[in-house]
Amino acid sequence: MSTDILEVPAEFAANALVDTAKYQEMYKRSIEDPEGFWGEHGKRIDWIKPYTKVKDVSYDASDLHIRWYEDGTLNVAANCIDRHLADKADQAAIIWEGDEPNVSRTITYRELHEQVCRLANAMKDLGVKKGDRVTIYMPMIPEAAYAMLACARIGAIHSVVFGGFSPESLHGRIEDCDSTVLITSDAGMRGGRHIPLKKNADEALEHCPNCKTVIVVQHTGDDVTMVEGRDHWYHDVTAAASPDCPPEEIGAEDPLFILYTSGSTGKPKGVLHTSGGYLVYASMTHEYVFDYKPGEVYWCTADVGWVTGHSYILYGPLANGATTLMFEGVPNYPNTSRFWDVVDKHKVNTFYTAPTAIRALMREGEDPVKKTDRSSLRLLGSVGEPINPEAWLWYHRVVGDERCPVVDTWWQTETGGILISPLPGATSLKPGSATLPFFGIKPVVVDNEHNDLEGATEGNLCIEDSWPGQMRTVYGDHERFIQTYFTTFPGRYFSGDGCRRDADGYYWITGRVDDVINVSGHRMGTAEVESALVAHSKVAESAVVGYPHDLKGQGIYAYVTLNAGEEPSEELRKELVQWVRKEIGPIASPDLIQWAPGLPKTRSGKIMRRILRKIAANEHDQLGDTSTLADPAVVDDLVENRMNRG
Ligand code: PRX
Repeated sequence: MSTDILEVPAEFAANALVDTAKYQEMYKRSIEDPEGFWGEHGKRIDWIKPYTKVKDVSYDASDLHIRWYEDGTLNVAANCIDRHLADKADQAAIIWEGDEPNVSRTITYRELHEQVCRLANAMKDLGVKKGDRVTIYMPMIPEAAYAMLACARIGAIHSVVFGGFSPESLHGRIEDCDSTVLITSDAGMRGGRHIPLKKNADEALEHCPNCKTVIVVQHTGDDVTMVEGRDHWYHDVTAAASPDCPPEEIGAEDPLFILYTSGSTGKPKGVLHTSGGYLVYASMTHEYVFDYKPGEVYWCTADVGWVTGHSYILYGPLANGATTLMFEGVPNYPNTSRFWDVVDKHKVNTFYTAPTAIRALMREGEDPVKKTDRSSLRLLGSVGEPINPEAWLWYHRVVGDERCPVVDTWWQTETGGILISPLPGATSLKPGSATLPFFGIKPVVVDNEHNDLEGATEGNLCIEDSWPGQMRTVYGDHERFIQTYFTTFPGRYFSGDGCRRDADGYYWITGRVDDVINVSGHRMGTAEVESALVAHSKVAESAVVGYPHDLKGQGIYAYVTLNAGEEPSEELRKELVQWVRKEIGPIASPDLIQWAPGLPKTRSGKIMRRILRKIAANEHDQLGDTSTLADPAVVDDLVENRMNRG
């Protein structure tokens, strides 16, 4: 691992929001006096009724609750739009870059206000009320942002489902939160291909009788079936609606959104975020981590289907009155210069992407980057998975011309915003390290025996206290919330990640320590892939693990035991891959499938995943203790026929 240190460029520090001394002073205060610190910084957003209580948190499993600013009221959409109208009505709120390079649109704050109000009124006309759940299954088009903000305006709770998920996954998510409304579009476009969103939605809705209203954006013009009485064209309902919709008064702890994410067991969980604390935290981290200055163009390449899209395409930037760029396409269409062409076209100042994209572009060499100008760039960001020092250094040298600091931001769907990251004017950088905690965040490294580890060390990453952007519960299952995050290490929030802390107090995230894998920055539960595989009529049993993958970070390695009488074949292998794609979505496709006559189990029948991970990683010479195996011969067969010999 690299131990290089890159000092903050002097010019950058001179103009930054905070320098090293200021970071240290603010951090110290935030830890010593969280009530005072967050009481003050809560004022960065507009409140209808100001809060008098700042924080009421207990991590005690018998009475677990997390409340911030609880007696305050606000409206999140008004914070993201209306309050900027006085001085930024004609400034671009959203720059939209379509899949095709000749298609883009600029939406000013004034236009954003009108579009969001129209949709909010249309939703009200269709009977949507405060607290109702609205599922959004959309491509990366401005209407996806309007839909989220329209929900926030009227107090409906949005649940955005990534457009790459299958009808079956969409169905599960609509049903879990009992969503009554779906907003979708005819189709999405990615790299020149059409994604049939409405068709997928129709399939999902066959199983969702309570979802009685569908609003459909006409985007690609693809032919779709409209169901009488259920389906409404977006352009019809918004044209008929008033362009003025007073924002609803919402309690700080009223829900803003649900976002499903994978865990180590069971079905995806509905992570619930509320309004006041979430917005304070998203806007504050956006401003400080990206050192955002008024007038800058900021681009986060995530999809709104993930938390990064929620906090750092939409809510954080818009709460700060920023210009946020929204990109429908992919990095390699029509060619691998696309990101940098977009940077030049819209004079992007800050660019925030995932390591998997950087690694893929790195493979194409420097030319596609170097033939573009990129002089508008001043800051680069990374998120979603550990970034290997080699990719970090390439990003810094080739994309940023050694001029732009790289902020490697560690956080999770559950955390609502960035917890560990450099502040570019304050933090010396180490390639591959997420560096230091944000204000109010106290990381603790804990060993498996629950001991806090001091100094330079390695262990499980927990957070000692709460922060305003933290999730509040698992929708409909508070017990699961407590079990998942607060019982492994009692009294702490457990992230599920492992980390190393070096002698300078810098954090190096080493990846998940549970049965969650991170494929191209997308989080996937191995249990979900297993349950999809065993749902196939020829499969008896399956165990899924992650293994190191050059481009994706981790690949999906599935061990499959077939039913008696079924023969392994190449066709069946392909069929199973297709099956998982259909059940969950393309991001869950197994990269390698190994036929396993048996799985390594303990005498009590528990699958020994540690062994399976080692075989998948091609580290079968380091299997460790196998003495508890019920049948050691099983392992010999698995090693003999392993799929990853790289
Ligand atoms: O393992 C960590 C990894 O992504 C997980 C969170 O995934 P998700 O909830 O989908 O949110 C992704 C975007 C915030 C974490 O538990 N992760 C995220 N960012 C980093 C990271 N691992 C290392 N370095 C990061 N910067």
